Amino acid sequence: MTLDFDEILNKSDFTKDDLIFLLNAEDEFRKKIFARAAEVKEEYIGNKVYYRGLIEYSNRCSKNCYYCGVRAGNKKIKRYQLTDDEVVEAAVFAHKNKFASIVIQAGERSGKVFTAKIETLIRKIHKATNSELHITLSLGEQSEETYRKWFKAGAHRYLLRIEVSSPDLYIKLHPLNKIHDYQTRLDCLRSLKQIGYQVGTGVMIGLPFQTIDDLAEDLLFFKKFDIDMAGMGPYIEHNDTPLFQYSEQLLPKAGRFDLSLKMVALLRIMMKNINIAATTAMQSIDPQGREKAIMIGSNVVMPNLTPIKYREDYLLYQDKPCVDEEAEECRGCLEARIKMAGAEVGYGEWGDSKHYKNNLHA
Ligand code: 5AD
Ligand code: SF4
Ligand code: FES
Repeated sequence: MTLDFDEILNKSDFTKDDLIFLLNAEDEFRKKIFARAAEVKEEYIGNKVYYRGLIEYSNRCSKNCYYCGVRAGNKKIKRYQLTDDEVVEAAVFAHKNKFASIVIQAGERSGKVFTAKIETLIRKIHKATNSELHITLSLGEQSEETYRKWFKAGAHRYLLRIEVSSPDLYIKLHPLNKIHDYQTRLDCLRSLKQIGYQVGTGVMIGLPFQTIDDLAEDLLFFKKFDIDMAGMGPYIEHNDTPLFQYSEQLLPKAGRFDLSLKMVALLRIMMKNINIAATTAMQSIDPQGREKAIMIGSNVVMPNLTPIKYREDYLLYQDKPCVDEEAEECRGCLEARIKMAGAEVGYGEWGDSKHYKNNLHA
């Protein structure tokens, strides 16, 4: 038995059956996966962790994903949008503190005013920071033209989670209409890549109706799509969403967390040189969630730079951490946590995905 397990774990390519087997591992077998992933990370990535200052630009959203607390149908939350000055100020904080990189995230909107606003903001940020910050966008599905405009204005990376790679499961988690179309999402990912962005995607783990089989497929999807960055985390229920009614069917939170760790570890083994985030959702289940993720494969964290007065209104899920902590507090806290995880912050380094760089020279 032990031999079988080691043989599978040491393979250079996992099949779907291997992944299902590994995702089901418990006790000392589970620990072996983590140890192997830590080894791979040490060899290919080293112990640097890169900061991406997260600016939650707006919670206005035109979509209605069944799992998300800021969905358009949730009338209970106050909608906000940061002013340009607030965004630039947060970017300058990141620059001064040598974060080297920021993420601008918001609900999905595609009107001309919005897309033009983002373009202006990208330029303003570059001006205020001497073009020394790398800018990542996480603004959902847009036309290829919009993606090109933003790229030209100076955005470098784009995060667009596929959420679940199974089209059948996708339908169960989104309204059945044109603006929630799985194929469109795939097309967006393809055009982002083609334009030249470093592309990140990811999935939620422990969703209602999701099986281990689905998660194995998710990992194979990342590999096949040849992503540069990944952000995955546990699904966390939010009581003002349609999916909340299935809460009783969910794995306990600890189980969802453990599966998320396994997903990170297996992805690190499969895609040795990509950037993998230790996500906020992991921290909200386990106070040391991000540190644990760093120890077994993650190399990116996203300290929150959104002004505090807006944070309560960007609750994608319940119990989101760091809602009351100023950027300055999180910075200190995080650095200590990263050290405890035996890692080191890569201050002043862009921390580009090595995968992306290698591909460029290929
Ligand atoms: N639990 C965990 N993650 C969530 N997201 C949205 N809602 C939830 C939830 N209830 C994630 C989605 C989205 C990202 C911005 O937040 O994966 O892409
Ligand atoms: Fe909007 Fe994104 Fe939430 Fe979907 S997951 S409702 S697109 S903010
Ligand atoms: Fe925000 Fe610790 S990282 S308080």
